Amino acid sequence: MQREAHLNNAALMARRRAALPSGLGQSYDIVADRAENAEVWDVEGKRYIDFAGGIAVLNTGHRHPKIVQAVKAQLDKVHHTCFQVLAYEPYIDLAERLIAKAPGDFEKKAFFLTTGAEAVENAVKIARSATRRSAVIAFGGGFHGRTLLGMALTGKVAPYKAGFGPFPAEVYHAKYPNALHGVSESVALASIEGIFKYDVEPERVAAIIIEPVQGEGGFYLAPNEFIAGLRTIADRHGILLIADEVQTGAGRTGTWLACEQWGVAPDMVTMAKSMAGGFPISAVIGRATLMDAPGPGGLGGTYAGSPLACAAALAVLDVFEEEKLLDRSKAIGERLVAGLKAMAKKHVAIQDVRGAGAMVAIELFKGGDRSQPDADFTKRLVVEAAKRGLILLTCGSYANVVRVLVPLTASDALIDEGLGVMAACFDALA
Ligand SMILES: Cc1ncc(COP(=O)(O)O)c(C=O)c1O
Repeated sequence: MQREAHLNNAALMARRRAALPSGLGQSYDIVADRAENAEVWDVEGKRYIDFAGGIAVLNTGHRHPKIVQAVKAQLDKVHHTCFQVLAYEPYIDLAERLIAKAPGDFEKKAFFLTTGAEAVENAVKIARSATRRSAVIAFGGGFHGRTLLGMALTGKVAPYKAGFGPFPAEVYHAKYPNALHGVSESVALASIEGIFKYDVEPERVAAIIIEPVQGEGGFYLAPNEFIAGLRTIADRHGILLIADEVQTGAGRTGTWLACEQWGVAPDMVTMAKSMAGGFPISAVIGRATLMDAPGPGGLGGTYAGSPLACAAALAVLDVFEEEKLLDRSKAIGERLVAGLKAMAKKHVAIQDVRGAGAMVAIELFKGGDRSQPDADFTKRLVVEAAKRGLILLTCGSYANVVRVLVPLTASDALIDEGLGVMAACFDALA
């Protein structure tokens, strides 16, 4: 039977394609109608298990009742003043609570923006202002957003940078450690010394920005020894260390911030995504002495730190405490890794199962040959999973990684159901 056009995925997608530019990617030809916790229903009534979480935004699940309630209550009080014009308490509360949770035995300050890219841009602005230096070192495979500086920092050409240059100057890329693809920690550290030798003198470098676990880049984890080496290099040359925790932050890796596990503290941290459970807000948290470097008016934004998003972010913090979601992140991670390792025993294509807390991924190679990343099979796998009612995401420099970002509020039964669908997909496609 023909569905009404507004209740039909295909018809809505046809309208979408006619009205929207193709640069706006689309993982699936599915139009969401409603969602709850870790499940989504499309406009045709089909149910999906959500292992994508809106790309790491829904650690507290879809429409968590406490978050919805907090936003509704804020909506009835004040929903916009522009913080720089008239301040409001939830913004100040949130800054204080995030400062208290960030590692580092020094005074900190925090402020808010709207997107992850904006947080990254502002961290770099502060680093430049505080050090009076201009250069920035980022990493190959890293992702830092789609603004001009975000693209410049991002270490992947297609699709993020191709055709969009020229980019802001003085951004250099070092190698991110990646044992699976032959980049040892010492090679990665040496690549920074290489930048000092071939590209820019360390005295002109303001900051090194790094994702504790690369998100879009493939869920590769920077080992603590590497981070310690980075901190040493940074301290030797007066360079600041920025942890981009837009994807890893808000409990995804088993601690509130992944850099809590480092053993050394970054000078600044960026957050966004899950910090407000889907309401647009991002944060820069850092050493007070640095954060105060830009003059009044140098930081901010019209919508930055909106009252609704601040209320949502405060509710997220409460939900994490009340529902012990950091413990849950670790437990979900263990469950996912065990389930995926069982699949890897049966399917040689899965050459790596890795994770930090509930930030878990598998990496796929043709016939198990590690010199042949299998992007094609990876794509077929996620398409098959969606047909069977499971939303998955791919990532990685070679597009051969399937990542899981299931809400930390998901039940074990739902996670097992999702793993069951993945196993059935492997069996069907093998
Ligand atoms: C580590 C990291 N930094 C920055 C960004 C950019 O965030 P946004 O898309 O909110 O601008 C992302 C987005 O995926 C990210 O994963």
